[in-house]
Amino acid sequence: MSSNPDIVGDIEALLATAKSYDVKNPDRATRLDLIEKLEALHHKLDTPAEAMFRQLTNYSETAAVTTLLRMGALEKMPRDGAITAKELALSIDANEEVLTRLMRIISATGIIESAGEDLYAHTPFSLAYLEGSEVDFYELCVDEISPVAHKIPEYVATHEPNSIIDPKRSPYSWANNKEGKSFYEVLLDFPDRLARFNRAMTTQEAALPVLGMFPFSSLATSVDLSDPERVFLVDVAGGRGQSLLQIKKEMDEAGVVGLGKLILQDRKPVLDAISAEQLPNVEKMAIDFFTPQPVKNAHIYYLRRIMHNWQDTEARTILKNIADAMASDSRLLIGEMIVPSQPEGVDRTVYWMDLCMLIIGGKERSEKEFTILLSSAGLELVKIWRSKIGPQTVIECRLRQ
Ligand SMILES: C[S@@+](CC[C@H](N)C(=O)[O-])C[C@H]1O[C@@H](n2cnc3c(N)ncnc32)[C@H](O)[C@@H]1O
Repeated sequence: MSSNPDIVGDIEALLATAKSYDVKNPDRATRLDLIEKLEALHHKLDTPAEAMFRQLTNYSETAAVTTLLRMGALEKMPRDGAITAKELALSIDANEEVLTRLMRIISATGIIESAGEDLYAHTPFSLAYLEGSEVDFYELCVDEISPVAHKIPEYVATHEPNSIIDPKRSPYSWANNKEGKSFYEVLLDFPDRLARFNRAMTTQEAALPVLGMFPFSSLATSVDLSDPERVFLVDVAGGRGQSLLQIKKEMDEAGVVGLGKLILQDRKPVLDAISAEQLPNVEKMAIDFFTPQPVKNAHIYYLRRIMHNWQDTEARTILKNIADAMASDSRLLIGEMIVPSQPEGVDRTVYWMDLCMLIIGGKERSEKEFTILLSSAGLELVKIWRSKIGPQTVIECRLRQ
């Protein structure tokens, strides 16, 4: 008879899931289920003090790996085989002891491999910082968001409680000495940071997909194409066209062509940095979404990762401007994550993203919050198209009847 039936029961459940997991043909849902069970078991075995101090491992790991990345140490490590800290320090002209201490931190957490005493080798986890498509987004979070995150306690101590609801007085604006400007207005003052932000927005596909939810290729049969003048799709504040190009590709591949004009809207400096070759058969149009939407009666208005950047007052203005341009059969498709009513699963993207949004003056929303917000702008929620691989959704809306 076991003296710890609870833990043995958890391990048996874990084992049962592991037996159904095919490593050669990995299924994401089973993999996440395994991680969830493992984490729950880990949590049960931790003491509260151990759990508290593990948080410190998180930030020291981020600091160590980012420093090694910027020092050029990760780049200089051989792709195959191992290297000593001494050789590595010599090759990048770094202090050997400091380098060793940083390497130790990230080998302890498995980012790099400790291949022997004072000997280090790359793993797929360290190579992701050099070759992975998400590096721009990671660096954006490290440089723009994380320093402010550590200052939120000071912000809260020095501001009246409701100031955080004003995007022009966000922790980000305050920490950058730019109170009076929103996050996006601050970025306009720094062309390099703006360019990096726009690049980063093109690289979050794995966690926040564009496709696989709303069936774009089915639109050929579900829109009324009798008026050839009607614009087919407007990507409102679409950045560098990262979503629109994917939607277009999906429709092209399905043979859905000739449905009408595709328009990419954003602020002028963002659009000016995109060449015509990068946007084949797409019209660019500079707008300010706080002013009336210039394209009327389009079949589809698409708005991805915009609502979460703003508080309700600004979000409502953006929505109303689109609603005023919509015809009775136009659709608005909103690509956003939805905060579940209770924390669930091991994919915590929506929670860390919500902290990013708290910092820049926006917020992630629940289904209930979206329903209220949409209704206040004269819109109704028709259907939520959920991703099978994460918290991303497409919220389909129409004008309220
Ligand atoms: C988080 S990005 C999302 C980009 C794209 N929709 C996506 O999902 O990747 C927010 C976008 O809003 C744009 N934006 C910010 N303020 C704007 C404004 N007043 N009018 C139009 N676009 C704006 C930014 O330039 C940026 O491209």
